[in-house]
Amino acid sequence: MELERILQRQGFGTRKGCRALIRSGRVAVNGEVCDDPFTDVCTDDLTFSVDEIAWPYREFATIMMNKPADYECSRRPIHHPSVLSLLPPPLVEREVQPIGRLDEDTTGLLILTDDGQLNHILSSPRKKVPKVYIATTKHPVDAGQIEAMLAGVVLHDDPEPVRAAACEVVGDCLLRLTITEGKYHQVKRMVAAAGNRVENLHRLSVGGLILPPDLKPGEWRWLEPSDIALLKAEE
Ligand code: URA
Repeated sequence: MELERILQRQGFGTRKGCRALIRSGRVAVNGEVCDDPFTDVCTDDLTFSVDEIAWPYREFATIMMNKPADYECSRRPIHHPSVLSLLPPPLVEREVQPIGRLDEDTTGLLILTDDGQLNHILSSPRKKVPKVYIATTKHPVDAGQIEAMLAGVVLHDDPEPVRAAACEVVGDCLLRLTITEGKYHQVKRMVAAAGNRVENLHRLSVGGLILPPDLKPGEWRWLEPSDIALLKAEE
């Protein structure tokens, strides 16, 4: 594929803009500056760099982020900045979107992608992708609350009870809870329906993909095909 087309596809602007970027000598391919926009480059295992920042060529951009508190998952946030503001411009230009939103005060594992098919698969309630959360609660969690969430609680806009796939006390006022749907404020509403209140919420994993301990709040990382396979792991 022509180098200027590669850059355009990877989110570096219009074809004309990418051509100018390449001609200015700011782009290197596999370690060597290339200032000819029409050079034919093989995209298999390609790493190019722009202003000495390395970019792996990805047909689809799928990443994970450790979402910090006080960021919104929306493209048009209202009260806080968008999580997209934590990403470099080429990823925003590619229109990566969160797969399932986290509340502005929720922290932890957030997946973003520009792969519409992957987003659709992982968002589908039929897929039952398990999501594990750690909730800090206002009151100590008792056995009755755990039982209620495992048996199913009724959320007031939803006639069908919603059950936790797993739920256990892991500390004083700390609950580890697994859900397989992604309803609006689901964890907070389930905990409230069971008679407690979520004070802090953190997502530890989606499918078999666990938030890496060294990924700091606000940081992001590319997902490899093996990570994406883990994401699709079912209950
Ligand atoms: N459940 C919630 O209540 N909030 C989240 O952000 C995610 C799940």
